Amino acid sequence: MTSPPTNELYESLTELERARLGFVEEVRRAWATQVYPALRREFDATVPAPAAGSVTGALAHLRTLATYPWFAWLEREMQKLKWRQLLEMAQRHPDAVAAIDDPPGREEPGPGAEPPADLPSWYTSIDIHCQPGGLWWGDQAAVVYELGARILHLGANSSHELHRLFTARCFTDLPDGARIVDLGCGFGKSTVPFAERYPTAEVIGIDLSRPVLRLARHRARQRGVGIAYLPGDASDVALPSHSCDVVTGTMLLHELPAPVLERTLHESARLLKPGGQIRFLEFARTGDAFRDAVIVDHAIRNNEPFLPQLMELDVVGMLERAGLTGARWTPFDERGDGPRPEGFPHRDEWHFPWAVLAAERAGGPDRHDKEAA
Ligand SMILES: C[S@@+](CC[C@H](N)C(=O)[O-])C[C@H]1O[C@@H](n2cnc3c(N)ncnc32)[C@H](O)[C@@H]1O
Repeated sequence: MTSPPTNELYESLTELERARLGFVEEVRRAWATQVYPALRREFDATVPAPAAGSVTGALAHLRTLATYPWFAWLEREMQKLKWRQLLEMAQRHPDAVAAIDDPPGREEPGPGAEPPADLPSWYTSIDIHCQPGGLWWGDQAAVVYELGARILHLGANSSHELHRLFTARCFTDLPDGARIVDLGCGFGKSTVPFAERYPTAEVIGIDLSRPVLRLARHRARQRGVGIAYLPGDASDVALPSHSCDVVTGTMLLHELPAPVLERTLHESARLLKPGGQIRFLEFARTGDAFRDAVIVDHAIRNNEPFLPQLMELDVVGMLERAGLTGARWTPFDERGDGPRPEGFPHRDEWHFPWAVLAAERAGGPDRHDKEAA
């Protein structure tokens, strides 16, 4: 087991501040393991047959249940409390944030700042995941985002366990010197596992947010891995056509408006070499109307306006029309072996409907196919 990467902000916190974050995490755990199963039981006991057969019907019924206001309030208010506390803590511990400042001494604009002109307005106008001001406005936003993500995963991804499993289980073997591009790389949780697994590879991370890229570079230096982190838009990448062995992304596609999503899939196909692989770790419809309704509702509560459409759009068809073969969704079990072609795992507690969107470009040398994701 790799030790959790440092988060300078967390290291600086007082015992009381850590207890405040611990409170949010414990309430979230109770929400996931007790309130969600209670909601499910109430739904199953009361849902009329027609409503159980469609996501729209299930969503309408869900919202009438006695447990629902409690379930919805806890999710949104704990998320908002988490960010409020983290931002206050970042302001109280400026040295922890300054640690990632490279070059040092820049002015931090703050969450209400005027967005840079080169960032799309759909990106800067949304407080994504309810995080005040989103991810683009400063180093505080990046450091706070990193720590907030640990709480979201209830500590289960603090050492990038999810991302390591995805990297290890969803790709066929790569040639020496392969070029791997991670779109929407954030602070590098999805990128570092590639650089560590494939030491001869050229690993490139691309993200719209400059502060998260500064944090990503800082983390890569700390871990001694060579990664090129470049500011840019996943739908318009400054790399030559057919130059990449892998185009990947984790938790990116559900954050894109439909036209940007389609352009991103086309761009990914353009970048791919013959024999190359596209793999996006995302969320997909499970076929269980209750679960699918809950994730739509989660998206609304958590300011992720484009998530529901990812589950409705024909992204497989988009990859096929972009000239790729074998386009498919495969359920992914983050607490098991990863790809799970037989279907989504059953769990009583709340969890994301993880799935991998995959495709290949025909041609290229035959490689041993380790996994079917
Ligand atoms: C939910 S985070 C995922 C980060 C990382 N891949 C992970 O798994 O931890 C989504 C990231 O995508 C970035 N992003 C959103 N739209 C983008 C776009 N069009 N081009 C590049 N990056 C984008 C955001 O800034 C954010 O860092």
